[in-house]
Amino acid sequence: MKAAFIEQFGGPEVLKYGDLPDPAAAPGEVVVDVVAASVNGADWKVRAGQYSEAKFPLVLGRDFSGVVAVAGAGVDDLKIGDAVFGVLEAGREGAYAEKIAIKAAIIAKKPDELSHVHAAAMALTGLTATIAIETTLKLRRGETILIQGGAGGVASFAIQLAKHIGARVITTTSAANLDYVSGLGADEVIDYNAQDFTRTVSGCDAVFDTVGGDVAQQSFAVLKPGGRAAFIASGAQAPKPDRSDVTSLRPAVGRARAPLERIAQLVTAGAVRPPEIKLYRLSQAAEAHRVSEARHFRGKLVFQVR
Ligand SMILES: NC(=O)c1ccc[n+]([C@@H]2O[C@H](COP(=O)([O-])OP(=O)(O)OC[C@H]3O[C@@H](n4cnc5c(N)ncnc54)[C@H](OP(=O)(O)O)[C@@H]3O)[C@@H](O)[C@H]2O)c1
Repeated sequence: MKAAFIEQFGGPEVLKYGDLPDPAAAPGEVVVDVVAASVNGADWKVRAGQYSEAKFPLVLGRDFSGVVAVAGAGVDDLKIGDAVFGVLEAGREGAYAEKIAIKAAIIAKKPDELSHVHAAAMALTGLTATIAIETTLKLRRGETILIQGGAGGVASFAIQLAKHIGARVITTTSAANLDYVSGLGADEVIDYNAQDFTRTVSGCDAVFDTVGGDVAQQSFAVLKPGGRAAFIASGAQAPKPDRSDVTSLRPAVGRARAPLERIAQLVTAGAVRPPEIKLYRLSQAAEAHRVSEARHFRGKLVFQVR
C-alpha cells in the first residue's frame, strides 16, 4: 500500500510517501480501505518527536473514513463493503495510508449523508468536542461558554454542539475568521489580536480551551465562581488554576463506537455541519503539515487517499 510516513523525527520535510506492507486483520479487527484521512493538531507534534516513543517507519494520522475490505475472525457486526469511519486507538498513529487494520469495536458505520472526506474530518475533532462539551464540562442549556480558538477543527464542532445544547457561546479568533465562526452560530466573537478576552469576558459557566499556552492559563479569569474549564492543548494534564473556586479538567478522549455514532447522529440531524475542508493527496503530506503547524487555517485539512 501507499502511505505517508516518517523514518526520523523532524520538520515537515521528513515526511515520505512510498510503499509499505499491507496490514492484516487480527481477530476482532477489520482492514479498511481508507478513502480519506484527516490532519489533526497532534500529527505535527508526533512528527516533531514531542511524543517520543516510536517505531520507524511510522505512518502518521489518527482518523479516517473508508470501506471494510477484510473482516477478521470474530467480527460479526461489520462486513466487507461497509462504509465506516473512526479514530485509531489512543497512542497509535497510522491513518495516512491506503489501508489500516483496526479493532471493529471502536469504529462506526458512516452515515450516507456524510461523505468520506467529511467523516474523516469530523472523527477525532467530533470525538474530542463531544467528550469535552457533553461528558467533561456537562454543558447545560442557558449556560455561557467561552470556546478558545473558534476556527479550529475541534472548536468549530464544539461551537455548534454548544449552540445545539442551548448555551450562549463566546469564541475567539483572528479577524480573517470572524465571519466563519459567526456562521457556525457563535453569539459573540472576539478578535484576539484586537481585544484582550480577559477584559471583555466575565461570568462564564464554562471554558473550552483548544489553544493552550498563555491563552489556557488566562482562561480561568473569565469563569464565575464554581465555573469549570476543559483543556485539550495543554498536554496530558489540565493546567493548575490560579484561583480556588473553579475546576480545571482534562477531557479523557477514549475510543469507542458510541461517541462516533453520536457524531453521526448530530450531523444527520443537522445540529452540526461539516467544517471547511482543504484537500491534499498523501504525497503532499509535508505541505499539509506546514499549514497545520502554522496554526492559522480554518476548518480541516484532509487527505483524499483514493
Ligand atoms: N484528544 C485530544 O486531546 C485532542 C484531539 C484533537 C486536538 N487536540 C489538540 O487541540 C488543539 C486544537 O486542535 P485543532 O485541530 O482543533 O485546531 P488547530 O489546528 O490546532 O488550531 C487551528 C486554529 O487555532 C486558531 N488559533 C491559533 N492561535 C489562536 C489564539 N491565540 N486564539 C484563538 N484562536 C487561535 C487558529 O485560528 P486563527 O487563524 O483565527 O488564529 C486556527 O483556526 C491542538 O493543540 C491539538 O493537538 C487534542
